[in-house]
Amino acid sequence: MDIGFIGTGGISEAMIRGIVGCAEHKETVLVSKRSSERSARLAAEYSTVRVVDKNQEIVDRSDWVVLAVLPHQAERVIERLQFRASQTMISLVAGLEIAALRRHVSPCENICRMIPLPPIEYAVGPLPIYPRLSEVGSFFERLGTVVPVDDESCFNVFSANSALMANFFEWTAAQARWMEEQGVPSESARCYASAFVYGLATLVNQAPTEQLQGMSEECLTTGGLNEQVLTESRKMGWFEMLRPALDSVLRRLQG
Ligand SMILES: NC(=O)c1ccc[n+]([C@@H]2O[C@H](COP(=O)([O-])OP(=O)(O)OC[C@H]3O[C@@H](n4cnc5c(N)ncnc54)[C@H](OP(=O)(O)O)[C@@H]3O)[C@@H](O)[C@H]2O)c1
Repeated sequence: MDIGFIGTGGISEAMIRGIVGCAEHKETVLVSKRSSERSARLAAEYSTVRVVDKNQEIVDRSDWVVLAVLPHQAERVIERLQFRASQTMISLVAGLEIAALRRHVSPCENICRMIPLPPIEYAVGPLPIYPRLSEVGSFFERLGTVVPVDDESCFNVFSANSALMANFFEWTAAQARWMEEQGVPSESARCYASAFVYGLATLVNQAPTEQLQGMSEECLTTGGLNEQVLTESRKMGWFEMLRPALDSVLRRLQG
């Protein structure tokens, strides 16, 4: 199964590294010449990756087509292309609904939306898929945690939540900065902060999902340091502050 990418941006690169580098997909991966430095680098690194000049040629030569251009570019790009009924289209484009995709890529009807995140490069991370096309779901199980979504309005909620990525990196970096301010050498502070989030994320990932809401309480000792920080953070409205930001991202996605 040959996979073509329309748009060779950051998320396409992460997916290709996951698909070819981690999942060892042996068949051809076609990428657009756009972002020429990135597409050339991928082709130089992986013998199965080929750079193609025209989007129509990518569609013509692919069994699965991944649409990975920016939201404001997407409809203009696909309305010019001719798809086949036998193809599968996977759209990564935030906010572009299945009905609109269907109009543009007819007669192709095997269409789904997916939200890969950069750690797909290492075959980890969530992969919401709507609707769950079984062959796409099975393929991507090797590349992360497939989360089938039954309802398109819920799919937008996953998109909105993915907007927390930059916050997570900033939260991690802020810990290292604070340790440095207290006199910890930079290298030790950065090393500690990275291992700290990795260790805790591993625990979250290993725990049954029903335990998620109780994990913060479970790691507390009454009167202990974690209890102190959690209580103070709650008093400051730390966790409630996320809500308006996420609500507003969701409204933006819903148009
Ligand atoms: N980044 C993420 O973590 C993430 C996660 C999930 C979903 N998404 C979605 O994935 C899509 C891509 O995101 P991104 O972060 O990878 O964006 P990006 O880095 O800006 O990549 C966009 C790509 O589209 C290319 N492009 C623009 N017009 C084109 C055209 N007419 N034909 C072919 N290629 C064209 C650009 O090429 P040039 O550089 O040459 O202009 C670039 O390679 C977005 O719709 C986003 O919502 C992103």
